[in-house]
Amino acid sequence: MKKFIIGTAATVLILTIIFSIQQGILFSKTLPYDDEQSGLDTQITIHLSHVVAENTPKGQAAIKFAELVEEKTKGKVKVHVYPNASLYNDENEFKALQDGKVEMIIPTFSKMTAYVPDWQVLDLPYLFHTDDEVHEVLTGPIGEQLLDELKPFNVRGLGFWHNGFKQLTAEHPIYTFEDLQGLRIRTMPSKTLERQFSIVGATPVPISFSEVFTDLESHAIDAQENTASNIYSKGFYKVQKNMTVTNHGILGYSVLMNEKFWQQLPPKVQQQLMEAMQETTEWQFKQAVLINAEDLRKLQQQSDFDIYTMTDNERQRWQEQFAPVYDYYRTNVKQPHILAEIQKIISP
Ligand code: SIN
Repeated sequence: MKKFIIGTAATVLILTIIFSIQQGILFSKTLPYDDEQSGLDTQITIHLSHVVAENTPKGQAAIKFAELVEEKTKGKVKVHVYPNASLYNDENEFKALQDGKVEMIIPTFSKMTAYVPDWQVLDLPYLFHTDDEVHEVLTGPIGEQLLDELKPFNVRGLGFWHNGFKQLTAEHPIYTFEDLQGLRIRTMPSKTLERQFSIVGATPVPISFSEVFTDLESHAIDAQENTASNIYSKGFYKVQKNMTVTNHGILGYSVLMNEKFWQQLPPKVQQQLMEAMQETTEWQFKQAVLINAEDLRKLQQQSDFDIYTMTDNERQRWQEQFAPVYDYYRTNVKQPHILAEIQKIISP
């Protein structure tokens, strides 16, 4: 009986020691640091808010960026995209970003000119001639220089995206700039854009993008400037009867992140986000051209919507009329030399 008790006790003791070693209770060893594995339990979420439809150059790029981020970080970082001003609109999105209520927004650079007046250079009428010129300027050293000006705002500029060239829609046909006289024209809030229309005797009305459709419908405004993709995707052609292909300016975006959030990201994630950003940007510029061409074609098919394309001579006249906007710009920004730098890159 004594032998039986000692044997059982010994067996229990041996089994307990084996189990403890297996479970790491005895002789537990520290695993080497594995960068790939660390923090896998810590999901990072980026809330990205923007104001346009999903089937637009910005809407598509936001989705592409989210996919690439998920792929490159192997699911560690998730980007939730909120389109159509469903979270924040033009008026409150920048404050929401600064306050850390969202981690990313993609405002037009025109809307950022209240904070960064130098960005008005991108609003100058008839400065750019082709989408390739826009790409070269916005993705090169000038683009970087412009993004650096965001530093005092607790905001990091990840890059610029493109939409396209702006056209005019109105209730009545616009053949010459004289036809703009007396019209209430919605613009994005940018002093240069406002000046562009006051110079031709129109009244600029800077309102939020999400209000444009209803204000056109209720005749609170008579006209607006935008790209074919925004005109089509927001249905402005349903409440305006005419469009003139003027290509008089560009509409593009700054991709912004809350600086504090950025600083808290592990360096590897920062690098993955920048890779996703660069890949999206290259894809985005090409996509923007295709979407605008396709949406212009769809607009041309609308039965109750007339499109007039201005001639080269008319463009020359508009350009001359808009020349004083350049003087206004030069006297109202800190670094007017950026204009000369851009002009060196693009064709005359
Ligand atoms: C946008 O493309 O984000 C909106 C443009 C506008 O406000 O006209």
